Formats: sequence, structure tokens, C-alpha cells
Amino acid sequence: MSELLKVTSVSKTYKTGQKVLRVFENISFELGKGRFLAITGVSGIGKSTLLNIVGLLDRPDSGEIELNGVKYSSLSENEKSVFRNKHLGFVFQFHHLLPEFTVLENIAMPFFIGGGGFDEGIERARKLAKAVGLKEREDYFPSMLSGGEQQRVAVARAIMNNPDLLLMDEPTGNLDPKTGNMVMEYVFMLREEFNLSCIIVTHNIEIGKRCDKIFSMEKGECVNV
Ligand SMILES: Nc1ncnc2c1ncn2[C@@H]1O[C@H](COP(=O)(O)OP(=O)(O)OP(=O)(O)O)[C@@H](O)[C@H]1O
Ligand SMILES: [Mg+2]
Repeated sequence: MSELLKVTSVSKTYKTGQKVLRVFENISFELGKGRFLAITGVSGIGKSTLLNIVGLLDRPDSGEIELNGVKYSSLSENEKSVFRNKHLGFVFQFHHLLPEFTVLENIAMPFFIGGGGFDEGIERARKLAKAVGLKEREDYFPSMLSGGEQQRVAVARAIMNNPDLLLMDEPTGNLDPKTGNMVMEYVFMLREEFNLSCIIVTHNIEIGKRCDKIFSMEKGECVNV
């Protein structure tokens, strides 16, 4: 089976002034379509850095990443932005919703940014709002929602453009455990419905167990669950 994502010998250093911080070296793993991978490791080990590199928000010093046969090294800066919008979805620890837009508009935003029409965008956003249990909150503004509801809007927004790969950086890290579990229930429901492929950075062992693979940054190895 050909893999959806191939990460090959990726290394990253940060240079600040005279200091060079070697964050990680020679990381390699693969992920098939429809699969979920959890990334674990202690604070500061480089989980967010790795996710940002896979998400084309940061670049490695060396190594190659290939998503759906497209090599990241072959993309210009402009092509990277378009590729991100079309093929990748992000959920961060804090939802980053736009306060002056409604739930539906926030969900549809990546579609509008990609040049999609208003009516089509809102129609799809409506389906996604329902899928994350927010049918009754469609016209609310983010400030009127609970933390868990806000994060469910962020999840819906992340899959608005049918991304090939969903990237989540501690999506429930800012929520109490019960609310966090509820958000994840929706993610696993969406997984079935939309055949999602996903990488989740998480400290939560229960979430890790529900994924297909776990990549431990300490060990630098990827194991099947
Ligand atoms: N822009 C930057 N410039 C310099 N150093 C950075 C930069 N971004 C991150 N780092 C350093 O790289 C290391 C890895 O950071 P990263 O945010 O990837 O860790 P993490 O595993 O996600 O941690 P956490 O679990 O706390 O979120 C840290 O030591 C951090 O200080
Ligand atoms: Mg982090």
C-alpha cells in the first residue's frame, strides 16, 4: 500500500544568536490513508515543531516530507500556502476562531479563503456544524460558546476543505478532561464519517490508545497500537 504521508530523516535546529538548539534529528515515519497517529513526548521535545513542519508552517533543516506524492521541497512559498489550504487542516490548543464571525462563517472560512462561493460554503458548514453537535449554535459568535463548543467549531473548520491530513496539537489541552473527551468523541465520529487521516499531539494515553500508531519522540520510533 502506498502511504499518504512519508516523513524521511527530518532534522530541525533553531539558531538564536550564537546558540544552536538541536531539536530533533533524523525523524522518519509513515502514515496510511484513514489512519490516526498520536505523537507523544515530554514538554519541549519538539512535538509542535514536528507538527508545524508536517503542516508546512515551518521548514526542516534537512530531510523530506511527502504528502499524497507531493514533495514539500518542490513547493514554492506561494504553492505552500495554496497546498496548506487545500490539503491540510489544523486544530491548535487554543481555537483561534475569528470573534467577529458566526459559527457557520468560522467553519466556512478556509473554503472562502480558497476562493469558494458563499452559498456553497455555508451549506457545507451547516452539515459540519450538525456533525459536531452545534446545529443550535450556528449563528452564535465564538464569545457566546463554551470552551468545548469553541473547540468543536475549530475541528469542523479544520475539515471544511476535506483535507488529506488533519493535524491537531493538543486539541483538548485547554479543556477539562470531561469536555476534552467529548470533543474527541466528535473527532472519532467524524473519522468514520469522513475517513479522516490525522496526527494528534497528545499527553492523553486514552487518546493514544484509540489511534493506530504512536510516535514516541523520546524513542524516535513509531509503534502500532
Ligand atoms: N521559534 C523558535 N526559536 C527558538 N527555539 C524554539 C522556537 N520554537 C521552539 N523552540 C524550542 O524548540 C524546542 C521544542 O519546542 P516545541 O514547541 O516543539 O516543544 P513541544 O514538544 O511541543 O512542547 P510542549 O509539550 O510544551 O508543547 C523547545 O525547547 C523550544 O524552546
Ligand atoms: Mg507543543
